[in-house]
Amino acid sequence: MDGTSASGGKKDLMGLISRMNKVFVPEGRKKDLLEILNSTGRMSLTEAAEKIGLDNLQANKLAEQLRAEGRILIEKHYLKEPDLESVDYNTKKAGLSELSVKKVPVHTPEVPKARVTPPEMTASAEAKPGEAKVPEAKEKRKEEKTIEIDVESYTVKVDDIHYSIRIVDTGDFVPHYLVAMPRIDFVTRALLDETKRALIGEIQIESREVFDPEKFQKLRTKFLTRAREKLKSVLQKASDEYIAVLSRILVNEMIGLGDMEYLLLDDNIEEVVVNSSRDVVWVYHRKHGWLKSNVLIPTEDLIMNYSSRVAREVGREITHLKPMLDAHLISGDRVNSTLYPISTQGNTITIRRFSRTPWTAIHLIDPKLQTFSPEIAAFLWMAVEYEMNVLIAGGTASGKTTILNALMPFMPANQRIISMEDTRELNLPEYLHWVPLTIRPTNPEGEGGVSMLDLLQNSLRMRPDRVIVGEVRARAETEVMFEAMHTGHSVYSTFHAERASEVIERITSPPMSIPPAVLKSLHLIVIQYRNRRTKQRKTFEVCEITKDESDVPTLNTLYKWNPITDTIDKMYPSIRVKDDLAMFTGMTESDIESDLHGKRMILEWMLENKIYGVNDVGRIVTEYYLDKQVVLDLIKSKDVKIK
Ligand SMILES: Nc1ncnc2c1ncn2[C@@H]1O[C@H](COP(=O)(O)OP(=O)(O)O)[C@@H](O)[C@H]1O
Ligand SMILES: [Mg+2]
Repeated sequence: MDGTSASGGKKDLMGLISRMNKVFVPEGRKKDLLEILNSTGRMSLTEAAEKIGLDNLQANKLAEQLRAEGRILIEKHYLKEPDLESVDYNTKKAGLSELSVKKVPVHTPEVPKARVTPPEMTASAEAKPGEAKVPEAKEKRKEEKTIEIDVESYTVKVDDIHYSIRIVDTGDFVPHYLVAMPRIDFVTRALLDETKRALIGEIQIESREVFDPEKFQKLRTKFLTRAREKLKSVLQKASDEYIAVLSRILVNEMIGLGDMEYLLLDDNIEEVVVNSSRDVVWVYHRKHGWLKSNVLIPTEDLIMNYSSRVAREVGREITHLKPMLDAHLISGDRVNSTLYPISTQGNTITIRRFSRTPWTAIHLIDPKLQTFSPEIAAFLWMAVEYEMNVLIAGGTASGKTTILNALMPFMPANQRIISMEDTRELNLPEYLHWVPLTIRPTNPEGEGGVSMLDLLQNSLRMRPDRVIVGEVRARAETEVMFEAMHTGHSVYSTFHAERASEVIERITSPPMSIPPAVLKSLHLIVIQYRNRRTKQRKTFEVCEITKDESDVPTLNTLYKWNPITDTIDKMYPSIRVKDDLAMFTGMTESDIESDLHGKRMILEWMLENKIYGVNDVGRIVTEYYLDKQVVLDLIKSKDVKIK
């Protein structure tokens, strides 16, 4: 014994773990623990152990089991009954999710008689002399934890409500993201629950409304308005802002994603993820990377309810037989969910937040981002105007879809565009002649599935001028994509590969094995790159595929980013694009130069005048297509005003 403790903490820990695994707890003791917890509401682990006559390890194991079953909460070293709130609210949600209010008997624990505030670290009293130092060490760590260093703070505004956000470094592995959620006292909570009941009774939800995005939006507004009216009539003296705050809570709880909605308000957040009911919700911040938020979804059921709700809104489902879901929210955010035991720690939700205002080329040339240069933007614009085929490649979350979307306002308004995606992400200017399509997985009976390949084949019968494929992955769809290029459509898509040479390699070798000659229908490959350290996204290279005699497609690098100088350098002059332009448009080299020069001027002018929106950029592009000289002259004269 003595030998083990002398040889350091690691062995002690191993010993503890192996002892933990061997701990045996008689089944009947669970009930005992629940009972005393119900009568006190909250108590320390040591105290609980004492009351039911078990040692600390046994009590700990029991508590873990009960927590896994969602019957108690463990906070630090306290054991707690689950919040009344979450139990009650959970049942209502379950009811609502069946689109009818189902009565589920809830065992409501009695109001705690006496709340015993456990003395800190009573454990030390029992500790053997050799271990007496442990509680001290713990105390110390706790003290360190309370030192918070502010990393950044700002406010996020929605509907005239300001939510303040603080990002603090608490000495944890990652900084914490704290959103100031309204604190609801007992009385207000009761009022909210009462209002909820009234609203459920009043507003009948028909499944039709939930399936239809427009109707769902209306339903949301209706809920919000009614919630406001009801609360206002009770809280006559409350400010409008307070009423707005409360009604938002109601809507979030009843038809939204609960407290996660607060995290979805912030444009700096790219990802919101739930790992299980035992872990807080994590967020990926544009500037600070992964952070732990102060939002927790208290039960596994609730996580599953949220997933089912998301699924229903797009006419899909997530069940134990089909435990994985890919869907999107009405806002366009992409959602993936998995259920326990596929995800062994618990139910998960991953939300990729969709930029509320889709980025255009102007955002990307803005000095704030400098994803690519105005020169590249002008070049890609020209490629889109003259119907070149473009494939955007890069790693996961490197910004491929964002680039694809930024090219959309360069599409001429008089052409028919068909887009197809797994989940809706693209956001095109309103005036475009655009038909968006999305795939559909099969139902539980294995029927009714519509794949990317189906869509692609169908789209070619819809007389498109431009075909946009969200992402190509499988052999069959890549084949059809090249077929579409070959038959004279201009095609835009994204692909997972880190370098232009890797794109060619992956497409031409197994399992894709597409004949190399076919690749020559593709004009340009744009590679997006995400710096894993600075988190910056850059266009790494722009390459064209030349049409030389050889069978193997050859790459010609036009632009390449230099990570050392952080500049995008022009590499080799274009061969393929220049030849094709000469052939299809009769443009000479100097025509091309002046075309590029004009486009670059317009782009820089838009940046200077802060014209960022898809529709605004698209409007100027459209004017330009109608009469290039007029727009160029106007811009040169410097006295045009927008709106
Ligand atoms: N150029 C960029 N600069 C900064 N952030 C970007 C850029 N492009 C995309 N992002 C952000 O990165 C995330 C992933 O972008 P997305 O285009 O969906 O990537 P991909 O399609 O490669 O998976 C999004 O949250 C988006 O807002
Ligand atoms: Mg993408």
